Amino acid sequence: MILQQLDSYFLLALSILSLVTAVPAPDPNGDREISVYIVPGNRTFPEGIARQKNSPYFYVGSVTTGDIYRGSVYEKHLVHFITGSTHGLTNAVGMKIDCEDRLYVAGGASGTLFAFDLHTKKLLHRFSNGFGLDANATLLNDLDIDEAGNVYITDSIRPTVFRVGASEVNRPTVDLALEKWTDLTGTMGPGGNGIVVTEDQRHLLVANVYAGEIWRVVISSRKVDKVDLGGTGIGGPDGLLIRDNILYSVNAFQEIGQFIRVIEMRPGYLSGTQVRNITSELFERPSTVAFDGNDLLVVNFQYGVVIPVLPFTVVRVPIGG
Ligand SMILES: *[C@@H]1O[C@H](CO)[C@@H](O)[C@H](O)[C@H]1NC(C)=O
Ligand SMILES: *[C@@H]1O[C@H](CO)[C@@H](O)[C@H](O)[C@H]1NC(C)=O
Ligand SMILES: *[C@@H]1O[C@H](CO)[C@@H](O)[C@H](O)[C@H]1NC(C)=O
Repeated sequence: MILQQLDSYFLLALSILSLVTAVPAPDPNGDREISVYIVPGNRTFPEGIARQKNSPYFYVGSVTTGDIYRGSVYEKHLVHFITGSTHGLTNAVGMKIDCEDRLYVAGGASGTLFAFDLHTKKLLHRFSNGFGLDANATLLNDLDIDEAGNVYITDSIRPTVFRVGASEVNRPTVDLALEKWTDLTGTMGPGGNGIVVTEDQRHLLVANVYAGEIWRVVISSRKVDKVDLGGTGIGGPDGLLIRDNILYSVNAFQEIGQFIRVIEMRPGYLSGTQVRNITSELFERPSTVAFDGNDLLVVNFQYGVVIPVLPFTVVRVPIGG
């Protein structure tokens, strides 16, 4: 049963996640130089990762159980943090943290976006798109949050970008509807995966993992256009990050190689040039990444692997360049 579920997640899932860490974490005499962090469990398949600002913490979520684990950049071992199934979260995919330390988790096949308070571990909200009870009807994969607190969510099955408005997050009601924000039928189509809000706060860049494409959505007009990458392939783009208009795109497909594409975006974000790859012998089919200062924290999901290499890990690699 779990294997069958896993197969379908592996076919469809993958996302990316991250959190920009502008302020370095205070150092409690720990070891910032740890390059491999250990995720508990032998069927965990950690997919999403988010770095909490102004703290030493980062989080990953299990695709197979929905459990959330917390790591410290100074400690080798992550610890169990939230039991997802208590809240109906059994399939944790992409995740990010807003400026008030709310953790948002894309709930995959549940069609639900979960929001937790990281200080109390309390479930704050479940935003449902209404398709979670039908088999293979939805797969909420990844998300990003703009500076105003609006949340944009991709779906790998439904050609839709969903959205949660910033004001909704402060409502007392736990269970709320997830707004169908932009229909990608006839443009990007299905396959939505990693997503970033550009630094000008005016665009979204969305990965289509199946087509190997990046698409741009203008937030004000919801206009959808394909990004011109100069005709060179980018593999299957899973997680995305952006900083200083450089886009980092994690390749999901092992047969193409284990690397993160580094793409210089031109003004307007309608085109970009691949300038280099980031790779490491520590990669085990990674799904997504988070910034930690001048490093990337890369989560080794082990996409599509039936007998995983244990333990599951998060690895630190320098951004370099
Ligand atoms: C859902 O997708 C999986 C994987 O593609 C497939 O094996 C399964 O039969 C599908 N289930 C339904 C009800 O369509
Ligand atoms: C996986 O974990 C279970 C439960 O802790 C344990 O019984 C089993 O031996 C482990 N399997 C492997 C391959 O480590
Ligand atoms: C990145 O790696 C891929 C796969 O090995 C390769 O095809 C591509 O040319 C590399 N890109 C750059 C800019 O080096």
